[in-house]
Amino acid sequence: MHETIAVLDFGSQYTQLIARRIRECNVYSRIYHYTTKASVLKRDKVCGIVLSGGPSSVFSRRAPVPDRRIFELGVPVLGICYGLQVMTHLLDGTVEETDRREYGHSTLEVSEKSLLLAGISRNIRVWNSHGDKVIKLPKGFGGTAKTPNSRYATIEHRKKKLFGLQFHPEVSHTEQGILILQNFLLKICGCHGDWSMSDYLEQSLESIRETVGDKRVILGLSGGVDSSVAAALIHRAIGNRLQCVFVDNGLLRLHERDAVVNLFRRNFQMNLRVVRSASLFLNKLRGVTDPERKRKIIGKTFIEVFDDVVKSTGPVDFLAQGTLYPDVIESVAIDGNPASLIKSHHNVGGLPKRMKLKLLEPLRALFKDEVRVLGRELGLPKEVLLRQPFPGPGLGVRVIGEITARNLKVLREADAIFNEEMVSSGYYYKVWQSFAVFLPVRSVGVMGDKRTYENVIVLRVVESLDAMTADWVRLPYEILQTVSTRIINEVKGVNRVCLDISSKPPGTIEWE
Ligand code: XMP
Repeated sequence: MHETIAVLDFGSQYTQLIARRIRECNVYSRIYHYTTKASVLKRDKVCGIVLSGGPSSVFSRRAPVPDRRIFELGVPVLGICYGLQVMTHLLDGTVEETDRREYGHSTLEVSEKSLLLAGISRNIRVWNSHGDKVIKLPKGFGGTAKTPNSRYATIEHRKKKLFGLQFHPEVSHTEQGILILQNFLLKICGCHGDWSMSDYLEQSLESIRETVGDKRVILGLSGGVDSSVAAALIHRAIGNRLQCVFVDNGLLRLHERDAVVNLFRRNFQMNLRVVRSASLFLNKLRGVTDPERKRKIIGKTFIEVFDDVVKSTGPVDFLAQGTLYPDVIESVAIDGNPASLIKSHHNVGGLPKRMKLKLLEPLRALFKDEVRVLGRELGLPKEVLLRQPFPGPGLGVRVIGEITARNLKVLREADAIFNEEMVSSGYYYKVWQSFAVFLPVRSVGVMGDKRTYENVIVLRVVESLDAMTADWVRLPYEILQTVSTRIINEVKGVNRVCLDISSKPPGTIEWE
Protein backbone atom coordinates (compact mmCIF):
# COMPACT_ATOMS: atom_id res chain seq x y z
CA MET A 1 0.00 0.00 0.00
CA HIS A 2 1.14 3.51 -0.80
CA GLU A 3 1.19 6.21 1.83
CA THR A 4 -2.16 7.86 1.14
CA ILE A 5 -3.53 11.32 1.82
CA ALA A 6 -7.32 11.58 1.99
CA VAL A 7 -8.89 14.64 0.41
CA LEU A 8 -12.39 15.14 1.82
CA ASP A 9 -14.52 16.77 -0.83
CA PHE A 10 -16.88 19.54 0.24
CA GLY A 11 -17.88 20.35 -3.32
CA SER A 12 -15.00 22.64 -4.28
CA GLN A 13 -14.17 23.21 -7.91
CA TYR A 14 -10.56 22.66 -6.80
CA THR A 15 -10.90 19.26 -5.11
CA GLN A 16 -9.38 17.40 -8.03
CA LEU A 17 -6.67 20.00 -8.30
CA ILE A 18 -5.74 19.44 -4.64
CA ALA A 19 -5.51 15.69 -5.27
CA ARG A 20 -3.31 16.26 -8.31
CA ARG A 21 -1.01 18.71 -6.54
CA ILE A 22 -0.46 16.16 -3.79
CA ARG A 23 0.46 13.52 -6.35
CA GLU A 24 2.81 16.03 -7.98
CA CYS A 25 4.63 15.99 -4.62
CA ASN A 26 4.99 12.21 -5.16
CA VAL A 27 2.47 11.33 -2.49
CA TYR A 28 -0.58 9.27 -3.41
CA SER A 29 -3.94 10.97 -2.80
CA ARG A 30 -7.52 9.80 -2.86
CA ILE A 31 -10.72 11.82 -2.88
CA TYR A 32 -13.37 10.84 -0.31
CA HIS A 33 -16.90 12.13 0.12
CA TYR A 34 -17.11 14.58 3.00
CA THR A 35 -19.43 12.23 4.93
CA THR A 36 -16.76 9.49 5.08
CA LYS A 37 -16.55 8.11 8.60
CA ALA A 38 -13.36 8.50 10.63
CA SER A 39 -13.31 4.71 11.00
CA VAL A 40 -13.03 4.31 7.22
CA LEU A 41 -10.07 6.69 7.05
CA LYS A 42 -8.49 4.78 9.92
CA ARG A 43 -9.08 1.48 8.15
CA ASP A 44 -7.47 2.91 5.01
CA LYS A 45 -4.49 3.97 7.12
CA VAL A 46 -4.37 7.46 5.63
CA CYS A 47 -1.34 9.50 6.67
CA GLY A 48 -3.10 12.84 6.52
CA ILE A 49 -6.46 14.43 5.75
CA VAL A 50 -7.09 17.52 3.65
CA LEU A 51 -10.47 19.20 3.92
CA SER A 52 -11.26 20.84 0.59
CA GLY A 53 -12.89 24.19 0.08
CA GLY A 54 -16.49 24.39 -1.01
CA PRO A 55 -19.24 26.79 -2.01
CA SER A 56 -21.13 26.55 1.31
CA SER A 57 -21.22 28.66 4.40
CA VAL A 58 -21.08 26.91 7.76
CA PHE A 59 -24.24 28.88 8.56
CA SER A 60 -26.21 27.27 5.77
CA ARG A 61 -28.88 24.82 6.93
CA ARG A 62 -27.48 22.21 4.59
CA ALA A 63 -23.82 22.94 5.22
CA PRO A 64 -21.72 19.82 4.61
CA VAL A 65 -20.22 18.67 7.91
CA PRO A 66 -17.61 15.94 8.27
CA ASP A 67 -17.47 13.26 10.98
CA ARG A 68 -15.95 15.25 13.87
CA ARG A 69 -14.04 12.17 15.04
CA ILE A 70 -11.57 12.77 12.19
CA PHE A 71 -9.97 15.38 14.47
CA GLU A 72 -9.34 12.74 17.11
CA LEU A 73 -7.60 10.17 14.89
CA GLY A 74 -4.16 11.55 15.63
CA VAL A 75 -3.73 11.99 11.87
CA PRO A 76 -2.72 15.50 10.69
CA VAL A 77 -5.54 17.53 9.16
CA LEU A 78 -5.25 20.50 6.82
CA GLY A 79 -8.42 22.53 6.23
CA ILE A 80 -8.45 24.71 3.14
CA CYS A 81 -10.88 27.67 2.91
CA TYR A 82 -14.29 26.12 3.77
CA GLY A 83 -12.28 23.24 5.27
CA LEU A 84 -10.67 25.68 7.71
CA GLN A 85 -14.02 27.25 8.54
CA VAL A 86 -15.84 23.99 9.16
CA MET A 87 -12.98 22.74 11.34
CA THR A 88 -13.05 25.96 13.37
CA HIS A 89 -16.84 25.77 13.68
CA LEU A 90 -16.83 22.13 14.81
CA LEU A 91 -14.08 22.71 17.35
CA ASP A 92 -15.96 25.63 18.93
CA GLY A 93 -14.12 28.57 17.42
CA THR A 94 -16.11 31.37 15.80
CA VAL A 95 -16.71 31.93 12.11
CA GLU A 96 -18.39 35.13 11.03
CA GLU A 97 -20.44 35.91 7.98
CA THR A 98 -19.01 39.07 6.47
CA ASP A 99 -20.16 41.40 3.77
CA ARG A 100 -16.54 41.98 2.80
CA ARG A 101 -15.76 39.08 0.60
CA GLU A 102 -12.17 38.33 -0.23
CA TYR A 103 -11.75 37.21 -3.83
CA GLY A 104 -8.55 37.06 -5.81
CA HIS A 105 -5.11 38.09 -4.69
CA SER A 106 -4.02 39.38 -1.32
CA THR A 107 -0.72 39.45 0.53
CA LEU A 108 -0.04 36.96 3.27
CA GLU A 109 2.10 38.22 6.08
CA VAL A 110 3.76 35.44 8.05
CA SER A 111 3.89 36.38 11.72
CA GLU A 112 4.76 33.23 13.68
CA LYS A 113 7.10 30.33 13.27
CA SER A 114 5.18 27.44 11.82
CA LEU A 115 6.01 24.02 10.47
CA LEU A 116 3.40 24.47 7.76
CA LEU A 117 4.96 27.75 6.61
CA ALA A 118 8.61 26.65 7.02
CA GLY A 119 10.79 28.16 4.30
CA ILE A 120 8.00 30.48 3.05
CA SER A 121 8.92 34.13 2.40
CA ARG A 122 7.64 36.70 4.90
CA ASN A 123 5.23 38.15 2.36
CA ILE A 124 3.68 36.11 -0.43
CA ARG A 125 0.80 36.67 -2.79
CA VAL A 126 -2.01 34.22 -2.09
CA TRP A 127 -5.30 33.54 -3.81
CA ASN A 128 -8.56 33.75 -1.88
CA SER A 129 -12.17 32.99 -2.57
CA HIS A 130 -14.31 33.31 0.54
CA GLY A 131 -17.05 35.30 2.22
CA ASP A 132 -17.00 33.97 5.81
CA LYS A 133 -13.95 34.21 8.02
CA VAL A 134 -12.64 32.96 11.35
CA ILE A 135 -12.76 35.59 14.08
CA LYS A 136 -12.09 33.47 17.19
CA LEU A 137 -9.86 30.44 17.27
CA PRO A 138 -10.81 27.14 18.88
CA LYS A 139 -8.97 26.20 22.08
CA GLY A 140 -5.31 25.29 21.59
CA PHE A 141 -5.02 26.96 18.16
CA GLY A 142 -2.79 29.86 17.24
CA GLY A 143 -2.71 32.13 14.18
CA THR A 144 0.53 32.08 12.21
CA ALA A 145 -0.14 34.48 9.32
CA LYS A 146 -2.68 37.10 8.23
CA THR A 147 -3.94 38.95 5.20
CA PRO A 148 -5.38 42.49 5.26
CA ASN A 149 -8.86 40.97 5.40
CA SER A 150 -8.28 37.89 7.58
CA ARG A 151 -6.61 38.03 10.93
CA TYR A 152 -6.43 34.23 10.92
CA ALA A 153 -5.37 33.37 7.39
CA THR A 154 -3.36 30.37 8.64
CA ILE A 155 -3.96 28.62 11.93
CA GLU A 156 -2.63 25.58 13.72
CA HIS A 157 -2.96 23.38 16.75
CA ARG A 158 0.61 22.18 16.95
CA LYS A 159 0.06 19.34 19.40
CA LYS A 160 -2.96 17.87 17.67
CA LYS A 161 -1.46 18.56 14.22
CA LEU A 162 -4.53 20.41 12.98
CA PHE A 163 -3.86 23.14 10.42
CA GLY A 164 -5.94 25.55 8.38
CA LEU A 165 -5.43 27.91 5.45
CA GLN A 166 -7.98 30.53 4.49
CA PHE A 167 -6.44 30.83 1.00
CA HIS A 168 -5.94 28.20 -1.70
CA PRO A 169 -2.39 26.74 -1.81
CA GLU A 170 -3.37 24.44 -4.70
CA VAL A 171 -3.95 27.15 -7.32
CA SER A 172 -1.01 28.41 -9.31
CA HIS A 173 -1.82 32.04 -8.39
CA THR A 174 -0.67 31.36 -4.83
CA GLU A 175 3.08 31.87 -4.55
CA GLN A 176 4.91 28.97 -2.89
CA GLY A 177 1.63 27.09 -2.51
CA ILE A 178 3.32 23.84 -3.45
CA LEU A 179 5.95 24.40 -0.76
CA ILE A 180 3.17 24.75 1.83
CA LEU A 181 1.59 21.50 0.64
CA GLN A 182 4.98 19.80 0.69
CA ASN A 183 5.51 20.94 4.28
CA PHE A 184 2.19 19.40 5.23
CA LEU A 185 2.85 16.13 3.39
CA LEU A 186 6.51 15.55 4.20
CA LYS A 187 7.22 17.43 7.42
CA ILE A 188 3.87 17.12 9.16
CA CYS A 189 2.34 13.88 7.86
CA GLY A 190 5.77 12.24 7.58
CA CYS A 191 5.17 10.96 4.05
CA HIS A 192 8.29 9.92 2.17
CA GLY A 193 7.33 11.48 -1.17
CA ASP A 194 8.40 8.36 -3.00
CA TRP A 195 5.22 7.56 -4.91
CA SER A 196 6.25 7.21 -8.53
CA MET A 197 4.74 5.95 -11.72
CA SER A 198 7.13 3.03 -11.99
CA ASP A 199 6.06 1.80 -8.53
CA TYR A 200 2.51 2.30 -9.59
CA LEU A 201 3.13 0.30 -12.74
CA GLU A 202 4.57 -2.64 -10.80
CA GLN A 203 1.67 -2.58 -8.35
CA SER A 204 -0.90 -2.39 -11.15
CA LEU A 205 0.64 -5.35 -12.94
CA GLU A 206 0.45 -7.41 -9.77
CA SER A 207 -3.10 -6.38 -9.05
CA ILE A 208 -4.24 -7.11 -12.63
CA ARG A 209 -2.67 -10.58 -12.46
CA GLU A 210 -4.31 -11.23 -9.12
CA THR A 211 -7.75 -10.04 -10.29
CA VAL A 212 -7.73 -11.80 -13.63
CA GLY A 213 -6.10 -15.05 -12.51
CA ASP A 214 -6.06 -17.43 -15.46
CA LYS A 215 -9.12 -15.86 -17.12
CA ARG A 216 -9.31 -13.83 -20.31
CA VAL A 217 -9.92 -10.13 -20.88
CA ILE A 218 -11.46 -8.32 -23.83
CA LEU A 219 -10.82 -4.65 -24.56
CA GLY A 220 -12.27 -2.28 -27.16
CA LEU A 221 -9.24 -0.45 -28.51
CA SER A 222 -9.95 2.89 -30.15
CA GLY A 223 -6.37 4.05 -30.52
CA GLY A 224 -7.01 6.97 -28.16
CA VAL A 225 -4.80 7.61 -25.14
CA ASP A 226 -6.88 5.84 -22.49
CA SER A 227 -7.69 2.59 -24.26
CA SER A 228 -4.14 2.39 -25.66
CA VAL A 229 -2.52 2.75 -22.23
CA ALA A 230 -5.01 0.30 -20.69
CA ALA A 231 -4.20 -2.20 -23.48
CA ALA A 232 -0.43 -1.85 -23.07
CA LEU A 233 -0.72 -2.23 -19.30
CA ILE A 234 -2.97 -5.28 -19.31
CA HIS A 235 -0.93 -6.86 -22.09
CA ARG A 236 2.23 -6.44 -20.02
CA ALA A 237 0.43 -8.14 -17.12
CA ILE A 238 -1.26 -11.09 -18.82
CA GLY A 239 0.11 -11.21 -22.38
CA ASN A 240 -2.04 -13.06 -24.88
CA ARG A 241 -4.92 -13.58 -22.54
CA LEU A 242 -5.84 -10.03 -23.47
CA GLN A 243 -7.95 -9.85 -26.63
CA CYS A 244 -8.11 -6.37 -28.13
CA VAL A 245 -10.85 -5.45 -30.56
CA PHE A 246 -10.67 -2.55 -32.97
CA VAL A 247 -13.90 -1.71 -34.73
CA ASP A 248 -13.52 -0.01 -38.10
CA ASN A 249 -16.83 1.81 -38.31
CA GLY A 250 -15.96 3.49 -41.60
CA LEU A 251 -15.82 6.84 -39.80
CA LEU A 252 -12.08 6.79 -39.13
CA ARG A 253 -9.47 9.23 -40.33
CA LEU A 254 -7.02 8.52 -43.14
CA HIS A 255 -4.76 5.52 -42.34
CA GLU A 256 -6.08 5.36 -38.78
CA ARG A 257 -6.76 1.63 -38.84
CA ASP A 258 -3.32 0.83 -40.25
CA ALA A 259 -1.62 2.93 -37.58
CA VAL A 260 -3.40 1.02 -34.80
CA VAL A 261 -2.62 -2.34 -36.38
CA ASN A 262 1.03 -1.42 -36.89
CA LEU A 263 1.56 -0.29 -33.36
CA PHE A 264 -0.34 -2.90 -31.41
CA ARG A 265 -0.09 -5.99 -33.59
CA ARG A 266 3.37 -5.51 -35.06
CA ASN A 267 5.20 -3.60 -32.30
CA PHE A 268 3.49 -4.86 -29.18
CA GLN A 269 2.50 -8.23 -30.67
CA MET A 270 -0.91 -8.06 -29.09
CA ASN A 271 -3.85 -10.23 -29.89
CA LEU A 272 -5.72 -7.67 -31.95
CA ARG A 273 -8.88 -8.40 -33.84
CA VAL A 274 -9.92 -5.83 -36.43
CA VAL A 275 -13.62 -5.84 -37.19
CA ARG A 276 -14.39 -4.29 -40.55
CA SER A 277 -17.93 -3.03 -40.29
CA ALA A 278 -17.81 0.15 -42.37
CA SER A 279 -20.59 -0.96 -44.69
CA LEU A 280 -22.85 -1.95 -41.78
CA PHE A 281 -22.49 1.51 -40.22
CA LEU A 282 -22.85 3.37 -43.51
CA ASN A 283 -25.95 1.38 -44.47
CA LYS A 284 -27.61 2.21 -41.18
CA LEU A 285 -26.68 5.87 -41.59
CA ARG A 286 -28.00 6.16 -45.13
CA GLY A 287 -30.33 9.13 -45.52
CA VAL A 288 -29.89 10.24 -41.89
CA THR A 289 -29.07 13.92 -41.40
CA ASP A 290 -30.17 14.66 -37.85
CA PRO A 291 -27.09 14.88 -35.58
CA GLU A 292 -28.66 13.18 -32.57
CA ARG A 293 -30.03 10.32 -34.66
CA LYS A 294 -26.62 9.85 -36.24
CA ARG A 295 -24.98 9.65 -32.83
CA LYS A 296 -27.56 7.18 -31.54
CA ILE A 297 -27.23 4.91 -34.58
CA ILE A 298 -23.43 4.94 -34.37
CA GLY A 299 -23.45 4.20 -30.62
CA LYS A 300 -26.05 1.44 -30.88
CA THR A 301 -24.38 -0.22 -33.85
CA PHE A 302 -21.04 -0.18 -32.04
CA ILE A 303 -22.55 -2.04 -29.11
CA GLU A 304 -24.17 -4.61 -31.41
CA VAL A 305 -20.89 -5.21 -33.22
CA PHE A 306 -18.95 -5.46 -29.99
CA ASP A 307 -21.52 -7.80 -28.50
CA ASP A 308 -21.15 -10.14 -31.49
CA VAL A 309 -17.38 -10.09 -31.12
CA VAL A 310 -17.64 -11.00 -27.44
CA LYS A 311 -19.95 -13.90 -28.27
CA SER A 312 -17.64 -15.23 -30.96
CA THR A 313 -14.43 -14.81 -28.97
CA GLY A 314 -14.98 -17.78 -26.72
CA PRO A 315 -14.92 -17.61 -22.97
CA VAL A 316 -13.98 -14.20 -21.59
CA ASP A 317 -14.61 -13.01 -18.07
CA PHE A 318 -13.49 -9.42 -18.05
CA LEU A 319 -14.18 -6.35 -20.11
CA ALA A 320 -11.36 -3.84 -19.77
CA GLN A 321 -11.97 -0.12 -20.06
CA GLY A 322 -9.78 2.95 -19.89
CA THR A 323 -11.93 4.71 -17.30
CA LEU A 324 -10.04 7.54 -15.56
CA TYR A 325 -10.25 8.98 -12.07
CA PRO A 326 -12.28 12.06 -13.01
CA ASP A 327 -14.93 9.71 -14.48
CA VAL A 328 -15.39 7.78 -11.25
CA ILE A 329 -15.30 10.50 -8.61
CA GLU A 330 -18.75 11.29 -7.37
CA SER A 331 -19.12 15.03 -7.25
CA VAL A 332 -20.62 16.31 -4.05
CA ALA A 333 -24.11 17.79 -4.31
CA ILE A 334 -24.15 21.02 -2.39
CA ASP A 335 -27.40 22.68 -1.38
CA GLY A 336 -29.37 20.21 -3.42
CA ASN A 337 -27.82 21.18 -6.72
CA PRO A 338 -28.52 18.08 -8.81
CA ALA A 339 -26.33 19.27 -11.67
CA SER A 340 -23.26 18.35 -9.68
CA LEU A 341 -24.62 15.13 -8.24
CA ILE A 342 -22.92 12.25 -9.94
CA LYS A 343 -20.87 12.42 -13.08
CA SER A 344 -22.16 9.87 -15.50
CA HIS A 345 -19.63 7.14 -16.13
CA HIS A 346 -19.58 7.89 -19.80
CA ASN A 347 -17.33 4.98 -20.71
CA VAL A 348 -19.58 2.50 -18.96
CA GLY A 349 -22.88 3.93 -20.08
CA GLY A 350 -23.72 1.98 -23.19
CA LEU A 351 -22.69 -1.49 -22.10
CA PRO A 352 -25.47 -3.98 -22.36
CA LYS A 353 -25.93 -5.76 -19.06
CA ARG A 354 -26.42 -9.11 -20.73
CA MET A 355 -22.74 -9.24 -21.64
CA LYS A 356 -22.29 -10.39 -18.04
CA LEU A 357 -18.63 -9.44 -17.96
CA LYS A 358 -16.76 -8.16 -14.97
CA LEU A 359 -15.20 -4.74 -15.44
CA LEU A 360 -11.46 -4.29 -15.32
CA GLU A 361 -10.51 -0.63 -15.07
CA PRO A 362 -6.80 -0.39 -14.35
CA LEU A 363 -6.60 3.40 -14.87
CA ARG A 364 -9.42 4.36 -12.56
CA ALA A 365 -7.07 5.87 -9.95
CA LEU A 366 -5.25 8.08 -12.45
CA PHE A 367 -5.62 11.54 -13.91
CA LYS A 368 -5.11 12.08 -17.63
CA ASP A 369 -1.58 13.46 -17.34
CA GLU A 370 -0.64 10.51 -15.12
CA VAL A 371 -2.00 8.12 -17.74
CA ARG A 372 0.38 9.73 -20.23
CA VAL A 373 3.32 9.20 -17.88
CA LEU A 374 2.29 5.57 -17.38
CA GLY A 375 1.97 5.16 -21.15
CA ARG A 376 5.50 6.45 -21.57
CA GLU A 377 6.77 3.91 -19.04
CA LEU A 378 5.04 1.23 -21.08
CA GLY A 379 6.78 2.35 -24.26
CA LEU A 380 3.89 3.96 -26.12
CA PRO A 381 4.97 6.65 -28.60
CA LYS A 382 4.31 10.37 -28.28
CA GLU A 383 1.94 10.27 -31.27
CA VAL A 384 -0.44 8.15 -29.20
CA LEU A 385 0.11 9.72 -25.79
CA LEU A 386 -0.21 13.33 -26.91
CA ARG A 387 -2.93 12.68 -29.43
CA GLN A 388 -5.74 15.20 -29.58
CA PRO A 389 -9.19 14.01 -28.44
CA PHE A 390 -11.32 12.41 -31.15
CA PRO A 391 -15.05 11.87 -30.66
CA GLY A 392 -16.50 8.37 -30.41
CA PRO A 393 -18.76 8.89 -33.48
CA GLY A 394 -15.64 9.90 -35.41
CA LEU A 395 -16.02 11.66 -38.74
CA GLY A 396 -19.74 10.90 -38.49
CA VAL A 397 -20.19 14.18 -36.59
CA ARG A 398 -17.85 16.06 -38.91
CA VAL A 399 -19.59 15.26 -42.17
CA ILE A 400 -22.52 17.61 -41.82
CA GLY A 401 -25.72 16.30 -43.36
CA GLU A 402 -25.85 12.84 -44.87
CA ILE A 403 -22.81 10.63 -44.39
CA THR A 404 -21.88 9.12 -47.74
CA ALA A 405 -18.73 7.31 -48.83
CA ARG A 406 -17.94 10.22 -51.18
CA ASN A 407 -18.35 12.92 -48.51
CA LEU A 408 -16.28 10.91 -46.08
CA LYS A 409 -13.50 10.54 -48.63
CA VAL A 410 -13.41 14.28 -49.27
CA LEU A 411 -13.31 15.05 -45.55
CA ARG A 412 -10.67 12.40 -44.86
CA GLU A 413 -8.32 13.85 -47.48
CA ALA A 414 -8.82 17.44 -46.39
CA ASP A 415 -8.42 16.50 -42.72
CA ALA A 416 -5.18 14.62 -43.43
CA ILE A 417 -3.67 17.68 -45.15
CA PHE A 418 -4.69 19.95 -42.28
CA ASN A 419 -3.26 17.47 -39.78
CA GLU A 420 0.02 17.18 -41.67
CA GLU A 421 0.47 20.97 -41.66
CA MET A 422 -0.45 21.21 -37.96
CA VAL A 423 2.17 18.59 -37.08
CA SER A 424 4.91 20.03 -39.27
CA SER A 425 4.35 23.59 -38.00
CA GLY A 426 4.46 22.33 -34.39
CA TYR A 427 0.94 23.59 -33.67
CA TYR A 428 -0.63 20.14 -33.39
CA TYR A 429 0.67 19.62 -29.84
CA LYS A 430 0.01 23.21 -28.79
CA VAL A 431 -3.75 23.24 -29.37
CA TRP A 432 -6.58 21.20 -27.85
CA GLN A 433 -8.03 20.07 -31.17
CA SER A 434 -7.64 20.83 -34.84
CA PHE A 435 -9.74 19.21 -37.53
CA ALA A 436 -11.67 19.70 -40.74
CA VAL A 437 -15.45 19.70 -41.12
CA PHE A 438 -17.30 18.86 -44.35
CA LEU A 439 -20.24 21.09 -45.25
CA PRO A 440 -22.97 19.80 -47.56
CA VAL A 441 -22.98 23.24 -49.14
CA ARG A 442 -21.68 23.90 -52.63
CA SER A 443 -20.33 27.17 -53.89
CA VAL A 444 -19.21 28.45 -57.24
CA GLY A 445 -15.53 28.81 -58.06
CA VAL A 446 -13.22 28.99 -61.02
CA MET A 447 -10.31 26.64 -61.61
CA GLY A 448 -8.19 26.57 -64.78
CA ASP A 449 -10.70 28.79 -66.61
CA LYS A 450 -13.51 26.41 -65.77
CA ARG A 451 -16.47 27.06 -63.53
CA THR A 452 -16.59 24.77 -60.48
CA TYR A 453 -19.47 24.04 -58.15
CA GLU A 454 -18.11 22.13 -55.18
CA ASN A 455 -18.20 21.62 -51.43
CA VAL A 456 -16.88 23.71 -48.56
CA ILE A 457 -14.39 22.58 -45.91
CA VAL A 458 -14.26 24.36 -42.57
CA LEU A 459 -11.16 24.38 -40.38
CA ARG A 460 -11.79 24.17 -36.65
CA VAL A 461 -8.88 24.81 -34.25
CA VAL A 462 -9.51 25.37 -30.56
CA GLU A 463 -7.61 25.81 -27.35
CA SER A 464 -9.15 24.54 -24.15
CA LEU A 465 -8.25 23.09 -20.76
CA ASP A 466 -11.09 20.64 -20.28
CA ALA A 467 -13.38 20.94 -23.33
CA MET A 468 -16.00 22.68 -21.18
CA THR A 469 -15.04 26.04 -22.63
CA ALA A 470 -12.89 26.71 -25.67
CA ASP A 471 -11.63 29.54 -27.81
CA TRP A 472 -10.58 29.51 -31.45
CA VAL A 473 -6.86 29.58 -32.06
CA ARG A 474 -5.33 32.50 -33.94
CA LEU A 475 -3.22 30.36 -36.27
CA PRO A 476 -0.63 32.28 -38.31
CA TYR A 477 -2.00 33.33 -41.72
CA GLU A 478 0.87 31.51 -43.46
CA ILE A 479 -0.30 28.16 -42.09
CA LEU A 480 -3.91 28.88 -42.97
CA GLN A 481 -2.85 29.89 -46.45
CA THR A 482 -0.82 26.70 -47.01
CA VAL A 483 -3.64 24.51 -45.72
CA SER A 484 -6.27 26.27 -47.82
CA THR A 485 -4.19 26.14 -51.01
CA ARG A 486 -3.28 22.51 -50.51
CA ILE A 487 -6.84 21.38 -49.78
CA ILE A 488 -8.29 23.19 -52.78
CA ASN A 489 -5.54 21.95 -55.09
CA GLU A 490 -5.25 18.39 -53.81
CA VAL A 491 -8.75 17.38 -52.76
CA LYS A 492 -11.19 16.74 -55.54
CA GLY A 493 -14.61 18.08 -54.69
CA VAL A 494 -13.57 21.12 -52.64
CA ASN A 495 -13.22 24.65 -53.97
CA ARG A 496 -13.57 26.71 -50.78
CA VAL A 497 -12.00 26.60 -47.29
CA CYS A 498 -13.41 28.58 -44.35
CA LEU A 499 -12.23 29.14 -40.78
CA ASP A 500 -14.53 28.69 -37.78
CA ILE A 501 -14.02 31.61 -35.39
CA SER A 502 -16.63 30.71 -32.76
CA SER A 503 -15.85 30.11 -29.12
CA LYS A 504 -17.54 27.62 -26.79
CA PRO A 505 -19.97 28.66 -25.45
CA PRO A 506 -22.04 29.56 -27.35
CA GLY A 507 -20.66 27.23 -30.04
CA THR A 508 -19.51 23.68 -29.33
CA ILE A 509 -16.18 22.25 -30.42
CA GLU A 510 -17.69 19.71 -32.80
CA TRP A 511 -20.26 20.86 -35.33
CA GLU A 512 -22.78 18.15 -34.52
P1 XMP B 1 -18.32 19.56 -27.86
O1 XMP B 1 -18.58 19.44 -29.31
O2 XMP B 1 -19.49 19.13 -27.02
O3 XMP B 1 -17.14 18.57 -27.53
O4 XMP B 1 -17.87 20.93 -27.47
C1 XMP B 1 -16.43 18.54 -26.33
C2 XMP B 1 -15.32 17.50 -26.44
O5 XMP B 1 -15.87 16.18 -26.48
C3 XMP B 1 -15.52 15.53 -27.68
N1 XMP B 1 -16.70 14.78 -28.09
C4 XMP B 1 -16.88 13.46 -27.87
N2 XMP B 1 -16.07 12.54 -27.32
N3 XMP B 1 -17.70 10.86 -27.68
C5 XMP B 1 -16.49 11.24 -27.23
O6 XMP B 1 -15.75 10.38 -26.73
C6 XMP B 1 -18.57 11.74 -28.25
O7 XMP B 1 -19.67 11.38 -28.64
C7 XMP B 1 -18.13 13.10 -28.34
N4 XMP B 1 -18.71 14.22 -28.83
C8 XMP B 1 -17.81 15.24 -28.67
C9 XMP B 1 -15.13 16.64 -28.65
O8 XMP B 1 -14.25 16.19 -29.65
C10 XMP B 1 -14.50 17.63 -27.71
O9 XMP B 1 -13.17 17.28 -27.39
